[in-house]
Amino acid sequence: MSGLFLDVLTGKKSECPPPVWMMRQAGRYLAEYRETRSRAGSFLGLCGDPELASEVTLQPIWRFDFDAAIVFSDILTVVMALGHPVTFDEGPKLPPLASAEGLERDSVYWRQVLEPVYRTLALTRPRLAPEKALIGFAGAPWTLAVYTAGGGNDEQKAARLWAYRDLDGFQRLIDRLVDCVSQHLIWQLEAGADAVQIFDSWAGGLPPKLFERFVVKPTAAIVHNVRTAIPGAPIIGFPRGAGLAQLERYANTTGVDGISIDPSVAMDWAVERLGAVVQGNLDPLVLVVGGAALQEGVNDILTAAHGKPFIFNLGHGILKETPISHVQELVKLVRNAR
Ligand code: CP3
Repeated sequence: MSGLFLDVLTGKKSECPPPVWMMRQAGRYLAEYRETRSRAGSFLGLCGDPELASEVTLQPIWRFDFDAAIVFSDILTVVMALGHPVTFDEGPKLPPLASAEGLERDSVYWRQVLEPVYRTLALTRPRLAPEKALIGFAGAPWTLAVYTAGGGNDEQKAARLWAYRDLDGFQRLIDRLVDCVSQHLIWQLEAGADAVQIFDSWAGGLPPKLFERFVVKPTAAIVHNVRTAIPGAPIIGFPRGAGLAQLERYANTTGVDGISIDPSVAMDWAVERLGAVVQGNLDPLVLVVGGAALQEGVNDILTAAHGKPFIFNLGHGILKETPISHVQELVKLVRNAR
């Protein structure tokens, strides 16, 4: 499989115009998504129904002709596969976990829980034009641990307190997550994903030792595990909120091919200093506003990344209040780049 997205990600060559897709591109800002979701009954029902999940995976491609589709699922399915309950009610709700001891180790069980993701990929790949990439994904161990320990707010307090109070116990949770996330990514690549992205949405604000131990090391281990099973598998990392020195460390040592950057990072610095193909980083709020702000935002990024291997994306997921016409305008602006 090849095409603009994979050529840039794996060939490390620059293309102008660059490939473009958007994190959370299948979602509530699309009327057709809301319609399919209501047919599924619930968000988790939608994730668990391969036929409907395939449909919403393809909806943004049909509407906007993005260069890549991302399989419709959620990062928290891995936590469910480990036997910990997850529900969604205006965002994820998990009972706080205090020990990794009870987590499921049997990969036959993981596979059973995660099977809808693989079936969605297998259904979707042949429905997608060959030049469009299909992206699989998983949450990174640190971010999944944050949700499992008590939630992703208040500076990730519960996970950090656990890590400081009981380093070995917390490390066991991270190790379980590394195993399941690695396997989940391998299974997705086997089922039809052309590349995978690791979302570390809560990687920001960590002291250097914690960042190294719980973000860099587990990510490097996952990259190693995936590439051992599937040599050359294209992998993008997204350590959202990481400081510049931490981003450099992550890009240059984990082995990822691509690094997704959040809106706080200067694009000219990123393409110069990061040892991976840069993806990003329009502020999702600029896309909500549209008009001159959107033109300027897109233009600044394209100018800074010009001549460097680069994938256009947002700096975080698209917001549900985003007007569809602004997304169409964004794609037009990127595709008109010279
Ligand atoms: O990008 C895509 O289109 C593929 C699908 C996708 C979803 N979640 C669907 C979703 C992906 C890649 C994710 C990743 C994800 N999920 C992340 C990492 C990216 C990020 O945003 O930082 C995280 C942290 C989660 C956990 C999660 N899932 C949260 C915090 C929420 C609630 C926030 C919200 O927007 O409501 C979800 C729910 C969720 N995941 C929705 C979608 C489309 C909205 C659910 C709905 O339809 O009601």
